[in-house]
Amino acid sequence: MLAPTSASSLDVAFAPATLPTEGALAILVLEGASPSGLWQAADQACGGTLSRAAATAEFTGKKGSTCMILAPGAGLSRVLLVGLGKEADHTPRGMEEAGGIAAAALSGERTAAFAADHMPPDHAGHAALGAVLRHYRFDRYRTKDGEGATKPKLATLTVLSDDEAAARAAWPALEAVAHGTKIARDLITEPPNVLYPAEMAERCRALAELGLEVEVLDLEQLEQLGFGALIAISQGSAQPPRVVTMRWNGGAEGAAPVCFVGKGVTFDTGGISLKPGPNMGDMKWDMAGAGAVVGLMATIAKRKAKANVVGVVGLSENMPSGTALRPGDVVKSLSGQTIEVLNTDAEGRLLLADVIWYAHDKFQPALTVNMATLTGGIVVSLGHEFAGLFSNDETLAARLIAAGKATGEACWRMPLGEAYDKAIKSDIADMKNIGGRPGGSIIAAQFIQRFVRGPWAHLDIAGMAWSSKDMPTAPKGATAFGLRLCDRLVAEHFEA
Ligand code: BES
Ligand code: MN
Ligand code: ZN
Repeated sequence: MLAPTSASSLDVAFAPATLPTEGALAILVLEGASPSGLWQAADQACGGTLSRAAATAEFTGKKGSTCMILAPGAGLSRVLLVGLGKEADHTPRGMEEAGGIAAAALSGERTAAFAADHMPPDHAGHAALGAVLRHYRFDRYRTKDGEGATKPKLATLTVLSDDEAAARAAWPALEAVAHGTKIARDLITEPPNVLYPAEMAERCRALAELGLEVEVLDLEQLEQLGFGALIAISQGSAQPPRVVTMRWNGGAEGAAPVCFVGKGVTFDTGGISLKPGPNMGDMKWDMAGAGAVVGLMATIAKRKAKANVVGVVGLSENMPSGTALRPGDVVKSLSGQTIEVLNTDAEGRLLLADVIWYAHDKFQPALTVNMATLTGGIVVSLGHEFAGLFSNDETLAARLIAAGKATGEACWRMPLGEAYDKAIKSDIADMKNIGGRPGGSIIAAQFIQRFVRGPWAHLDIAGMAWSSKDMPTAPKGATAFGLRLCDRLVAEHFEA
């Protein structure tokens, strides 16, 4: 059944900004800027076709707009113009989106060149990153070609730059992001019969080859340590839970690490508080927070980040059965605090409670960021535009919001407060795991906060982890949301 992954990979190369004589050419155009040297050369080589087509199509370089010319002559198969918008939009993120749009439009070509000669050379690679991210496709279970979406043919992409050496030098860090994103998306897309906790743990273990220290805790160890809340989730499942720790020691010896925690529910049926049937299959990506953390750690290792970073993921499957957790059960968390479980579908917070407590005991991190597909409520609040950001630390919250703007992984700050905390008072235990529908996402965050020591942020990514439509830098499906945001947080604030 398991065909080898026929990864349709896209090779990226760099070259000086001269006109190619074959394949496709994409020119990324700033709105209102005078035609670049390469544009003029292309137009001349094609006998003025380019300027005529642009004028007829009223192409002015507006952000996201395109204009395609077929068989323009001079050996080229196509020339594509992609608008970058005004100078103000001319950011690395803007380049990525334009690169992604170009890759989608040219997916039928085998080779393409991107002209970015108006751009600072260290930005040029961002167009290639956008293209690689958009080019992603999960092919593992296709036995026939031509079924579903057509396979992109694009195999080589050459970035043309006035300063080829600078563009090339900026690429490895971006390539590390592309590499980690693929790992995360593959994990998130895998079906739940294949990717259960033990399998996901094995895939984490394989990342040791990047220089990560990987440690896996199995059920017996988790029981001994007292992970009562995390274990309870999977007590109705045939698949035992795991907790995986991945460490990267690229910073000063002894410096407190930055810690990322991920929710990895490999399938969430709701348990005895069973979810309705329609779309339940979506709950295979209830491990997207953990997937993003794993991809992040791969990125951090691959680009040899000069920081101490630790990723911890809790892996569990939430199933109903004769041995399953019941609504009404009381469990004892690793922290010692007891929890009355009144809804077995509010399982993510149980998992995070134990993993966050554990990570703090074990690593005394400088700060903790957790990512989780935690509540349907956050999708009601913010739709698919922002992740919900909850934090007990103003600096951390501001840094995450800024990193989100820079990477296109936007977060919106949500409140925390005493009043919400009252909702989870239990009659018989230290707390209960639900508090009513109003403000449900905030109540969930408030629950997690009871297990937090030190600066912390919680990203509720339920609306962002999976896209039902193609996006500029991600085909529909798993996005790996959160990976780039957290990578940026580390790069900007924890690397000398
Ligand atoms: N995994 C779900 C949240 C979710 C919903 C993620 C939709 C992605 C898309 C989570 O475990 C859950 O079931 N949350 C419940 C909590 C409720 C029972 C308090 C919810 O949001 O309905
Ligand atoms: Mn649930
Ligand atoms: Zn869940």
